[in-house]
Amino acid sequence: MNETGFIDLRSDTVTRPTAAMRRAMAEAEVGDDVYGEDPTINRLERRAAEILGKQAALFVPSGTMGNTIGVKLHTRHGQEVICEARSHLLEYELAMLAWFSGCVGRPVRAAGGVLRWEQVKQEIRPLGPHRAPTALIELENTHNMAGGTVTPLEVMTEICDGAHNAGLKVHLDGARIFNAAAHLGTTVKDLCAGADTVMFCLSKGLCAPVGSLLAGEEEAIARGRLYRKRLGGGMRQAGVLAAAGLIALEEMPARLGEDHANARFMAEEMARIPAVRIVHRVETNLVIFDISAAGMAASELSRKLKERGVLINPIDQRLLRLATHHDAPRAACERALRVIEECLH
Ligand SMILES: Cc1ncc(COP(=O)(O)O)c(C=O)c1O
Repeated sequence: MNETGFIDLRSDTVTRPTAAMRRAMAEAEVGDDVYGEDPTINRLERRAAEILGKQAALFVPSGTMGNTIGVKLHTRHGQEVICEARSHLLEYELAMLAWFSGCVGRPVRAAGGVLRWEQVKQEIRPLGPHRAPTALIELENTHNMAGGTVTPLEVMTEICDGAHNAGLKVHLDGARIFNAAAHLGTTVKDLCAGADTVMFCLSKGLCAPVGSLLAGEEEAIARGRLYRKRLGGGMRQAGVLAAAGLIALEEMPARLGEDHANARFMAEEMARIPAVRIVHRVETNLVIFDISAAGMAASELSRKLKERGVLINPIDQRLLRLATHHDAPRAACERALRVIEECLH
């Protein structure tokens, strides 16, 4: 429950910094990061690179900026980016693909949001008299709008190997890559091994107040630093944010299983409500559910829930998405469940 008394299941982005993060923020050593002189940011970037198994990493204010720079690093104007049809990059980033990189997305609808090499390879286009060439494959793991579904390691590896053999790069939108690793019982390093660049967020299930990282080869990240400055992402004494980020990185991944168990619990209980259909396998912390059988629009259910103290966003007229997270423990999920039942009966 948040300070306003609501149980907020709209997203894991609503998590607030923990007490340990707030203490670390108050005590953080800082400097001017545009000069490369913020010791806490430097420490966060080194540690993130190490955990992801990449040469270098760049602290950016948001996942959107991390994806924007990731795409820019691997593309030129007039090229195509293959991505899943419901990917965040395509659907929720205000066409940054086109706006900053001058590229178009080639959307591929994949079951459960899990792209396969078999599908991807059929969409690759060489430059021709009528066609823009493919430059980049973009993957999203976990996949937000497919309901937090996880792309398994072997599928990631096959796509990355296939892309590289075809002379293409791979950018991984790993906003929730720690959730994917927790579900698979693998390391993020293994999951990220094939990708040329990886973006992940500190400010979602890991509870940091602000920030994401973009990791990759030293040369790419050095160029990325310049794009970050162009985009207005040179943040000066942002070590206060990186201090929280370090705690997010070191301490929070270990508890994500709790969020996943709460999401499974919610999904299993909601599946008993006749008007509810859970539309995907619940693997991590997101649950997308269909209420068309209730004869009520999703926006209407969302409004009724809010009147009773529960926040859950509609996706469209039929679907809603809820996210479990650190600030909504099991008791809050149980309460939310009762309210959902009341509103649908
Ligand atoms: C999969 C995915 N990628 C990228 C982002 C963008 O992150 P931000 O909101 O920090 O820009 C989000 C945000 O929800 C996301 O879910």
